[in-house]
Amino acid sequence: MPPTPQTVFLSRALTKTYRMGDVEVHALRGIDLELYAGEMVVLLGPSGSGKSTLLNILGGLDTATSGEVFYADHNLTTATEKALTLFRREHVGFVFQFYNLIPSLTARENVAAVTEIAEAPMTPEDALRLVGLGDRLDHFPAQMSGGEQQRVAIARAIAKNPSVLLCDEPTGALDSQTGVVVLEALEKVNR
Ligand SMILES: Nc1ncnc2c1ncn2[C@@H]1O[C@H](COP(=O)(O)OP(=O)(O)O)[C@@H](O)[C@H]1O
Ligand SMILES: [Mg+2]
Repeated sequence: MPPTPQTVFLSRALTKTYRMGDVEVHALRGIDLELYAGEMVVLLGPSGSGKSTLLNILGGLDTATSGEVFYADHNLTTATEKALTLFRREHVGFVFQFYNLIPSLTARENVAAVTEIAEAPMTPEDALRLVGLGDRLDHFPAQMSGGEQQRVAIARAIAKNPSVLLCDEPTGALDSQTGVVVLEALEKVNR
Protein backbone atom coordinates (compact mmCIF):
# COMPACT_ATOMS: atom_id res chain seq x y z
CA MET A 1 0.00 0.00 0.00
CA PRO A 2 1.34 3.46 -0.79
CA PRO A 3 1.80 5.63 2.30
CA THR A 4 -1.06 8.05 3.05
CA PRO A 5 0.06 11.47 1.89
CA GLN A 6 0.33 14.04 4.65
CA THR A 7 -1.97 17.00 4.08
CA VAL A 8 -0.21 20.34 4.48
CA PHE A 9 -2.89 22.79 3.32
CA LEU A 10 -6.61 22.16 3.13
CA SER A 11 -9.30 24.63 2.15
CA ARG A 12 -13.05 24.19 1.97
CA ALA A 13 -15.50 26.59 0.30
CA LEU A 14 -12.98 29.37 0.65
CA THR A 15 -14.14 32.78 -0.55
CA LYS A 16 -12.60 36.22 -0.61
CA THR A 17 -14.62 39.28 -1.47
CA TYR A 18 -13.08 42.73 -1.66
CA ARG A 19 -15.48 45.57 -1.06
CA MET A 20 -14.65 48.95 -2.58
CA GLY A 21 -17.51 51.30 -1.76
CA ASP A 22 -20.55 49.83 -3.52
CA VAL A 23 -18.51 47.48 -5.67
CA GLU A 24 -17.82 43.88 -4.64
CA VAL A 25 -14.99 41.94 -6.26
CA HIS A 26 -15.25 38.17 -5.85
CA ALA A 27 -11.58 37.22 -5.94
CA LEU A 28 -12.17 33.63 -4.73
CA ARG A 29 -15.50 31.83 -5.04
CA GLY A 30 -15.48 28.57 -3.10
CA ILE A 31 -12.00 27.05 -3.34
CA ASP A 32 -11.59 23.42 -2.26
CA LEU A 33 -7.94 22.55 -2.20
CA GLU A 34 -5.64 19.92 -0.71
CA LEU A 35 -1.86 20.12 -0.89
CA TYR A 36 0.46 17.39 0.34
CA ALA A 37 3.89 17.26 1.95
CA GLY A 38 6.75 17.14 -0.52
CA GLU A 39 4.72 18.39 -3.47
CA MET A 40 5.81 21.18 -5.75
CA VAL A 41 2.56 22.66 -7.02
CA VAL A 42 2.24 25.32 -9.70
CA LEU A 43 -0.92 27.42 -9.86
CA LEU A 44 -1.62 28.92 -13.28
CA GLY A 45 -4.31 31.38 -14.28
CA PRO A 46 -4.88 34.71 -16.00
CA SER A 47 -4.09 37.99 -14.33
CA GLY A 48 -6.81 38.85 -11.83
CA SER A 49 -7.96 35.25 -11.34
CA GLY A 50 -7.12 35.23 -7.63
CA LYS A 51 -3.72 33.52 -7.46
CA SER A 52 -2.09 36.11 -5.19
CA THR A 53 -5.21 36.31 -3.02
CA LEU A 54 -5.12 32.54 -2.48
CA LEU A 55 -1.37 32.46 -1.76
CA ASN A 56 -1.70 35.33 0.71
CA ILE A 57 -4.47 33.52 2.60
CA LEU A 58 -2.54 30.21 2.65
CA GLY A 59 0.51 32.08 3.95
CA GLY A 60 -1.39 33.93 6.67
CA LEU A 61 -0.80 37.37 5.13
CA ASP A 62 -4.52 37.88 4.50
CA THR A 63 -7.74 36.34 5.80
CA ALA A 64 -10.70 34.74 4.03
CA THR A 65 -14.21 36.18 3.84
CA SER A 66 -15.82 32.77 4.40
CA GLY A 67 -14.93 29.08 4.30
CA GLU A 68 -12.07 27.32 6.05
CA VAL A 69 -8.30 27.00 5.62
CA PHE A 70 -6.07 24.69 7.59
CA TYR A 71 -2.31 24.41 7.73
CA ALA A 72 -1.74 20.91 9.21
CA ASP A 73 -3.90 21.18 12.33
CA HIS A 74 -3.85 25.00 12.56
CA ASN A 75 -7.16 26.56 11.56
CA LEU A 76 -6.02 29.76 9.83
CA THR A 77 -9.58 31.05 9.46
CA THR A 78 -10.13 31.41 13.20
CA ALA A 79 -6.55 32.39 14.09
CA THR A 80 -5.81 35.71 15.77
CA GLU A 81 -3.46 38.22 14.14
CA LYS A 82 -0.81 37.19 16.66
CA ALA A 83 -1.23 33.49 15.86
CA LEU A 84 -0.95 34.24 12.14
CA THR A 85 2.27 36.16 12.74
CA LEU A 86 3.70 33.17 14.63
CA PHE A 87 2.49 30.80 11.90
CA ARG A 88 4.26 32.87 9.24
CA ARG A 89 7.43 33.17 11.28
CA GLU A 90 7.66 29.46 12.13
CA HIS A 91 6.38 27.80 8.99
CA VAL A 92 6.29 29.98 5.87
CA GLY A 93 8.87 31.28 3.44
CA PHE A 94 7.74 33.83 0.85
CA VAL A 95 9.23 34.74 -2.51
CA PHE A 96 7.70 37.56 -4.55
CA GLN A 97 8.01 38.73 -8.14
CA PHE A 98 10.23 41.67 -7.18
CA TYR A 99 13.00 40.36 -5.02
CA ASN A 100 12.80 42.99 -2.26
CA LEU A 101 16.47 42.68 -1.37
CA ILE A 102 18.07 45.38 0.78
CA PRO A 103 20.35 47.27 -1.68
CA SER A 104 22.98 48.25 0.89
CA LEU A 105 23.53 44.65 2.06
CA THR A 106 25.49 41.90 0.28
CA ALA A 107 23.88 38.58 -0.68
CA ARG A 108 25.25 37.02 2.50
CA GLU A 109 24.00 39.92 4.65
CA ASN A 110 20.55 39.89 3.05
CA VAL A 111 20.18 36.24 4.01
CA ALA A 112 21.75 36.76 7.45
CA ALA A 113 19.17 39.45 8.24
CA VAL A 114 16.63 36.63 8.39
CA THR A 115 18.72 33.81 9.86
CA GLU A 116 19.69 35.99 12.82
CA ILE A 117 16.09 35.94 14.07
CA ALA A 118 15.20 32.35 13.09
CA GLU A 119 15.13 29.38 15.46
CA ALA A 120 17.02 26.66 13.55
CA PRO A 121 18.37 28.38 10.46
CA MET A 122 20.80 27.21 7.81
CA THR A 123 23.91 29.32 7.50
CA PRO A 124 23.61 32.08 4.85
CA GLU A 125 26.51 30.43 3.02
CA ASP A 126 24.74 27.03 2.84
CA ALA A 127 21.48 28.63 1.68
CA LEU A 128 23.28 30.60 -1.04
CA ARG A 129 25.25 27.54 -2.15
CA LEU A 130 22.00 25.59 -2.47
CA VAL A 131 20.73 28.07 -5.08
CA GLY A 132 24.06 28.08 -6.90
CA LEU A 133 25.38 31.38 -5.55
CA GLY A 134 28.30 30.15 -3.47
CA ASP A 135 30.57 32.43 -5.49
CA ARG A 136 28.41 35.57 -5.10
CA LEU A 137 28.35 35.82 -1.29
CA ASP A 138 29.81 39.31 -1.09
CA HIS A 139 28.06 40.84 -4.10
CA PHE A 140 25.52 43.60 -3.66
CA PRO A 141 22.11 43.34 -5.39
CA ALA A 142 23.12 45.95 -7.99
CA GLN A 143 26.09 43.75 -8.94
CA MET A 144 23.86 40.76 -9.74
CA SER A 145 21.49 39.85 -12.58
CA GLY A 146 17.74 39.59 -12.02
CA GLY A 147 17.93 35.80 -11.86
CA GLU A 148 20.75 35.94 -9.33
CA GLN A 149 18.87 38.46 -7.20
CA GLN A 150 15.80 36.23 -7.23
CA ARG A 151 17.95 33.28 -6.17
CA VAL A 152 19.24 35.39 -3.24
CA ALA A 153 15.58 36.02 -2.36
CA ILE A 154 14.96 32.25 -2.48
CA ALA A 155 18.03 31.60 -0.30
CA ARG A 156 16.72 34.18 2.17
CA ALA A 157 13.29 32.51 2.22
CA ILE A 158 14.62 28.97 2.73
CA ALA A 159 17.46 29.78 5.16
CA LYS A 160 15.10 29.74 8.11
CA ASN A 161 14.09 26.18 7.13
CA PRO A 162 10.40 26.96 6.56
CA SER A 163 7.91 24.08 6.28
CA VAL A 164 6.44 25.57 3.11
CA LEU A 165 7.68 28.00 0.51
CA LEU A 166 5.06 30.18 -1.21
CA CYS A 167 6.24 31.90 -4.37
CA ASP A 168 4.10 34.50 -6.15
CA GLU A 169 5.23 34.80 -9.78
CA PRO A 170 8.86 34.12 -8.84
CA THR A 171 9.89 34.21 -12.50
CA GLY A 172 7.55 37.04 -13.51
CA ALA A 173 10.29 39.64 -13.83
CA LEU A 174 12.75 37.33 -15.62
CA ASP A 175 13.31 36.27 -19.22
CA SER A 176 12.30 32.68 -19.93
CA GLN A 177 15.84 31.26 -19.86
CA THR A 178 16.63 32.87 -16.50
CA GLY A 179 13.19 31.80 -15.29
CA VAL A 180 14.14 28.19 -15.91
CA VAL A 181 17.29 28.59 -13.77
CA VAL A 182 15.17 29.99 -10.92
CA LEU A 183 12.61 27.17 -11.25
CA GLU A 184 15.44 24.63 -11.17
CA ALA A 185 16.71 26.23 -7.96
CA LEU A 186 13.21 25.94 -6.45
CA GLU A 187 12.93 22.32 -7.56
CA LYS A 188 16.27 21.53 -5.94
CA VAL A 189 15.30 23.31 -2.73
CA ASN A 190 12.06 21.32 -2.61
CA ARG A 191 13.88 18.03 -3.12
N1 LIG B 1 -6.69 44.77 -2.05
C1 LIG B 1 -7.62 44.60 -3.01
N2 LIG B 1 -8.73 45.39 -3.05
C2 LIG B 1 -9.66 45.21 -4.00
N3 LIG B 1 -9.60 44.28 -4.97
C3 LIG B 1 -8.53 43.48 -4.99
C4 LIG B 1 -7.48 43.60 -4.02
N4 LIG B 1 -6.52 42.66 -4.29
C5 LIG B 1 -6.96 42.00 -5.38
N5 LIG B 1 -8.17 42.48 -5.80
C6 LIG B 1 -8.97 41.97 -6.94
O1 LIG B 1 -9.17 40.58 -6.74
C7 LIG B 1 -9.03 39.88 -7.97
C8 LIG B 1 -7.94 38.83 -7.84
O2 LIG B 1 -6.67 39.49 -7.74
P1 LIG B 1 -5.29 38.72 -7.54
O3 LIG B 1 -5.46 37.72 -6.44
O4 LIG B 1 -4.24 39.74 -7.36
O5 LIG B 1 -5.15 37.94 -8.92
P2 LIG B 1 -3.84 37.32 -9.64
O6 LIG B 1 -2.76 37.22 -8.61
O7 LIG B 1 -4.29 35.99 -10.18
O8 LIG B 1 -3.49 38.26 -10.74
C9 LIG B 1 -8.78 40.92 -9.04
O9 LIG B 1 -10.00 41.25 -9.66
C10 LIG B 1 -8.23 42.10 -8.26
O10 LIG B 1 -8.53 43.31 -8.89
MG1 LIG C 1 -0.85 37.95 -8.55
